[in-house]
Amino acid sequence: MARLDRCLNIYDLRAAAKRRLPKGVFEFVDRATEDHLALANNRNAFERIKLRHRALVDVSKRSVATTLFGKPASLPMAIAPTGAAGLCWHEGELELAKAAARSKIPLTLSTASMTSMEKIAEHGGPGVGGRLWFQLYVWKQRELSHQLIERANRNGFEALIVTVDSPVSANREYNTHNGFGLPFNPTVRFTLDMMRHPAWVTGVLMKYFTSIGFPRHENYPDDYRKSVLSGVGAHDAMRADSLDWNDIAKFRDIWPGILMLKGVNRPDDAVKALSYGIDGIVVSNHGGRNMDSAAATLDVLPEIAEAVGDRMTLILDSGVRRGSDIVKALALGAKAVLTGRATLYGTAVGGEAGALKAISILKNEADKTMAYTGCRTVDEITTDIFFGQREGNRLRDQAVAAF
Ligand SMILES: Cc1cc2nc3c(=O)[nH]c(=O)nc-3n(C[C@H](O)[C@H](O)[C@H](O)COP(=O)(O)O)c2cc1C
Repeated sequence: MARLDRCLNIYDLRAAAKRRLPKGVFEFVDRATEDHLALANNRNAFERIKLRHRALVDVSKRSVATTLFGKPASLPMAIAPTGAAGLCWHEGELELAKAAARSKIPLTLSTASMTSMEKIAEHGGPGVGGRLWFQLYVWKQRELSHQLIERANRNGFEALIVTVDSPVSANREYNTHNGFGLPFNPTVRFTLDMMRHPAWVTGVLMKYFTSIGFPRHENYPDDYRKSVLSGVGAHDAMRADSLDWNDIAKFRDIWPGILMLKGVNRPDDAVKALSYGIDGIVVSNHGGRNMDSAAATLDVLPEIAEAVGDRMTLILDSGVRRGSDIVKALALGAKAVLTGRATLYGTAVGGEAGALKAISILKNEADKTMAYTGCRTVDEITTDIFFGQREGNRLRDQAVAAF
């Protein structure tokens, strides 16, 4: 694990992941869509916020711990659902789940994961102190989704997160340039790419070959699970552009646990979600991977927080790379953040140990930010720690004054 020791922040993990993964896989994880505007916006929004150091506060007994849906979490963070974890590391989702359980934060398993929810529940679930959330992509044939929901319930997942920001597939042109695609399609270009990364071939691909054959989306319904390599449209079948509030009402009926929507970015949608009995919202633009003109999630968070108050739990994702980002999101109304790429980079470098490293880096940075700003508990984190007003608020106030 000497390589991990040299990784001091998420950007170091990213650089190490870039060396280890075939270009096609790395870019699938790292890049976003079209001109990468949303990806940059997400980061800019965090970087724009400056904090004020508060002097002479005894912060010797500070803690980054919190509660999420009434249960303790060691950090205001959970792992985001990412379909590609199983390509970063053999059964990467399991590595992430174990790291999350050890770190006492929830893990969200993607519908598109390559490890079955049964296996995740067995090795990363409540039996080993883990908290599991399941992310749902909605199939065009709704009964397939309903079956999946029942399966997640049988396996003890405490929350269901319905992703609502993906009515169509994104323009990720780089995947085509790289000859990489999901369903897996071993093009000449990607085959050459793999050959240049023998450690990945033996450490990831061969382990699947010698156990189950080609990596599969283990949570897909039977017919689609078989077709992952042949590509008989499993992805298309999963992009339900007909998904609407009637589906949400149905999910609320059949799901007894915590229900969240992921990818809500408007206050009116958030308020509407309340009336459907939704417990929480993930303010997300899919890490900038879907609509390239999407506003930064940090920019839309305050108006959503204002609209729903404390009537639902708000979680933010898209762009978290530093612990200070977590503190900024909390100050603007989030109860926690999700991390997608940050923890995936770690997984790609060292499996469970790499994911643990990413989590501990973010925790350590969040802790230091709290100490500098004089916050002893996460409840003490408010916009009072900001220097000046955020640009967006200032412009809005000026516009109101001029009117
Ligand atoms: C490689 C990759 C795969 C993803 N797969 C899914 C998925 O299957 N379902 C989903 O709702 N979101 C998925 N996402 C989006 C993440 O859940 C999350 O919203 C996003 O990664 C947050 O941005 P960040 O990567 O900057 O932290 C994926 C993201 C990445 C990077």
